[in-house]
Amino acid sequence: MVDFIGVGRVRELLGRRGTAHFIEELAGEIEADFRRWEAFEKSSRHASHSSVGVIELMPASDGRLYAFKYVNGHPKNTQEGLLTVTAFGVLADVQTGYPLLLSELTLTTALRTAATSALAARYMARRHSRVMALIGNGAQAEFQTIAFHHLLGIREVRLYDTDSAATDKLERNLARLRLPGLRVVRYASTAEAVRTADIITTATADKRNATILTPELIVPGVHVNAVGGDCPGKTELHREILLRSDVRVVVEYEPQSRIEGEIQQMPADYPVNELEAVLAGRAPGRASNDEVTVFDSVGFALEDFSALRYLWRIHQEERGAHLQVDLVPELKDPKDLFGLVLPQPQRLVTTAEVAA
Ligand SMILES: NC(=O)c1ccc[n+]([C@@H]2O[C@H](COP(=O)([O-])OP(=O)(O)OC[C@H]3O[C@@H](n4cnc5c(N)ncnc54)[C@H](O)[C@@H]3O)[C@@H](O)[C@H]2O)c1
Repeated sequence: MVDFIGVGRVRELLGRRGTAHFIEELAGEIEADFRRWEAFEKSSRHASHSSVGVIELMPASDGRLYAFKYVNGHPKNTQEGLLTVTAFGVLADVQTGYPLLLSELTLTTALRTAATSALAARYMARRHSRVMALIGNGAQAEFQTIAFHHLLGIREVRLYDTDSAATDKLERNLARLRLPGLRVVRYASTAEAVRTADIITTATADKRNATILTPELIVPGVHVNAVGGDCPGKTELHREILLRSDVRVVVEYEPQSRIEGEIQQMPADYPVNELEAVLAGRAPGRASNDEVTVFDSVGFALEDFSALRYLWRIHQEERGAHLQVDLVPELKDPKDLFGLVLPQPQRLVTTAEVAA
């Protein structure tokens, strides 16, 4: 039997752990794994594109555990009442190749994306950053807000979305959450929302080279957490922002980000650093208070590896529903797989059983 973590179990685990604490612990796991970068077998994800979206497979292994995530990105889905991003994944034992865990990863992707964003911002945003503009108020938005409030000390979040109903939803949810000391302010445009913000998070969904942020909106010292541009032909930043002389760009895994990130708009020798080099202290996340820093996030398989392992651990630690699925046959004789297919021998029914 293989352990199973469904949406209900993740909700239960979040209820027990607390969402902010969950994100904090997960950020710690992701940081620890990025710090042992060399231990991992890494590859860009395998993407299958269509005119409306993408379906991706994301594998990673440290030689002991192997993980993969299935994830989609379909920006028009919300018009049909469906999520833009859904995901599930598997954690497996490299020694036997047996799956250990089958898990939902839709909620978990939002949690790990927020954890990674906040982790990067800790090294890249100016110290004492207090104000974050959040452009794109859809499914990822609350998770990003909680992570930046809890891990960065953000005290004001400025909201803008082209869909005012999305901002209504975010405002409502944040009001219910009552994050201590957090001021929530909505704006009528991106330009107004980002003015004087310390951090700008863009988490919009649109399958095109959008220009959510244009050069005149970017002031010295700002940190841009660019989450929504994560596919060929799907970006959020005007390329001139990346051409500034004072810009510093950090990516997760360079070969993948060259294809999928904001830097797909740049030549192949455009300078970037990988997050692992920043975490290891080999490259600065920010060299001065005046630099413009950009975390060009696309989502890397290592983050899902960390998330699956973390989920599996707390699933075992915490009380509650411990479901399993019969994903792999259990056999007395492993060579007798066909024995499962053969009709089971008939058992003689006793007269007493018939009478009952
Ligand atoms: N980097 C990562 O690791 C990672 C992880 C998960 C999701 N994503 C990406 O993040 C984005 C957001 O994901 P989501 O699940 O919240 O999607 P979503 O569809 O739930 O929300 C996106 C929001 O962006 C808004 N939007 C679109 N164009 C806009 C514009 N020009 N200005 C302001 N708002 C605009 C939409 O109205 C919508 O409310 C997607 O593009 C997704 O692919 C990236």
